[in-house]
Amino acid sequence: MSFELPELPYSTDALAPWISKETLELHHGKHHKAYVDNLNGLVAGTELESKSLEEIVRTAAPGPIFNNAAQIWNHTFYFESLSPNAGGEPSGTLAGRIASDFGSFADFRAKFSETAVKTFGAGWAWLVRKPDGTLAIVSTSNAATPLTGEDIPLLTCDVWEHAYYVDYRNRRAEYVEKFWNLVDWEKIENRFGE
Ligand SMILES: [Fe+2]
Repeated sequence: MSFELPELPYSTDALAPWISKETLELHHGKHHKAYVDNLNGLVAGTELESKSLEEIVRTAAPGPIFNNAAQIWNHTFYFESLSPNAGGEPSGTLAGRIASDFGSFADFRAKFSETAVKTFGAGWAWLVRKPDGTLAIVSTSNAATPLTGEDIPLLTCDVWEHAYYVDYRNRRAEYVEKFWNLVDWEKIENRFGE
C-alpha cells in the first residue's frame, strides 16, 4: 500500500484571483506531491506501510517520516478548508462559539490574521477546538500540527512562503487578508460539529 496525493476539491484556477492557478499547480502538484512521494520512499518495506496517515502523524518520532506525513495531512486539511465563492462568516453554533470566545467574528478574524502573519518562518495558523469545548488560535512551526495533541483542528492557513510567494511575494499579510475570501465556513462548521 502506498499513500496517494488527494485530488484538489476544485480546479487549479478556481481560487483565482486570490490564489492563482500557478500557485496551486506548484503548491499541490509539486510541494504536496513531493511530501507524498517522500513518505512513500521512507516507509517502503517498513511496518509503517500498513498504517494510516493519521496514525503515522500521531506516533512518528521527530524526523523526516513525521515531517512528510504531517505535511501531507496539513496540506490536505488546508486545501479542503478553501473553496471558490466562499468567505463571509460562519453561522449556527460555531458563530455563537466564536462570538463568546473572541468577542466577535471581526475580533476572531483579526486575531487569527495576526497569528498567521507573526508566525516566524515557515508554519501554520490554526483555529482549534480545545478539549473543554472552547476555541483557540494556535501557530505551529514547519510541519507541526495540532493532530499530535488533544485539540481538534477546524481551520488552517498555510504561511510557508510557497503558499503565497508567487502571488504576493513577501507580502504575507496581504495573502492572509485575501485568504478570508476563500474560507469554506460550511466545511469548518461541519468539522466543529463532528
Ligand atoms: Fe504549503
